[in-house]
Amino acid sequence: MELQDVMKRSDRDAADVREFFNGWSLYRRIVDHDYLYHRSAREALTAWLDAWVKDANRSFSFLDLGCGDAAFSTGVLKGRNVAAYTGMDLSPVALDLARENTAEIAAPVALMPGDFMLEIGKLPAAYDIVYIGLSLHHLSRQEKEYFFSELRRKIAPGGAVLIFDPVLTPGESRESYMGRWVDYAEWSWKALSVEEIAGAVQHVTSSDFPEEVATLNRMAVGSGFRPAEILFMDHTDFYALMAFQLA
Ligand SMILES: C[S@@+](CC[C@H](N)C(=O)[O-])C[C@H]1O[C@@H](n2cnc3c(N)ncnc32)[C@H](O)[C@@H]1O
Repeated sequence: MELQDVMKRSDRDAADVREFFNGWSLYRRIVDHDYLYHRSAREALTAWLDAWVKDANRSFSFLDLGCGDAAFSTGVLKGRNVAAYTGMDLSPVALDLARENTAEIAAPVALMPGDFMLEIGKLPAAYDIVYIGLSLHHLSRQEKEYFFSELRRKIAPGGAVLIFDPVLTPGESRESYMGRWVDYAEWSWKALSVEEIAGAVQHVTSSDFPEEVATLNRMAVGSGFRPAEILFMDHTDFYALMAFQLA
């Protein structure tokens, strides 16, 4: 599938996503209260990565798509044997923060503005680890299909794609997921104001298109990966951290 064929049939507009994340402080507050389970995801990712590094016995390159302020990835990579870090994001506000945060990574850092859906095919190299944190779900199903096939071309032998994303439970509709997500956020995000929760709800219900793990597996396997190893799933069944290794 070629990018122009996907885009011809796509009505996606990344401007809304960029605008939401340019107001970075609301997202930061949500993360700081661990409402999206970053803490557990980081523990699981770090444990997986340490085991991978031990097996591979070498330093690794890391591509962070939708890196945001890169605080999450910097927390994972600090003190580890990183050969090079590349981050890409739509939001210039987030990338400015990423510039400061990634100073703690002891490796060459490249931060690139751009839409990873449009840019992935142009990225130059093969990466050992590609991480996509809470941003794949902004793509439509057809875009995700294309994206997986491009990801396959960007992975070095022995490498992996790690995806932390909202996922539908088996058989669940997007509408049903959104219903329980909104109920849960309104009930449990007590540190946020009504206006802040309304802002998050507006973003999630208009811009998020989660898939079932089985759907992501189908795309991944069709592109040359093994089905996901589930590294973490939160207790509310909203988010999963998945590792896709080459078949
Ligand atoms: C929910 S934040 C996650 C940030 C970070 N990865 C984390 O886990 O905390 C999603 C980030 O992905 C970025 N993003 C969403 N869609 C994107 C796209 N198509 N291309 C590049 N960045 C994108 C947003 O600008 C935002 O910074």
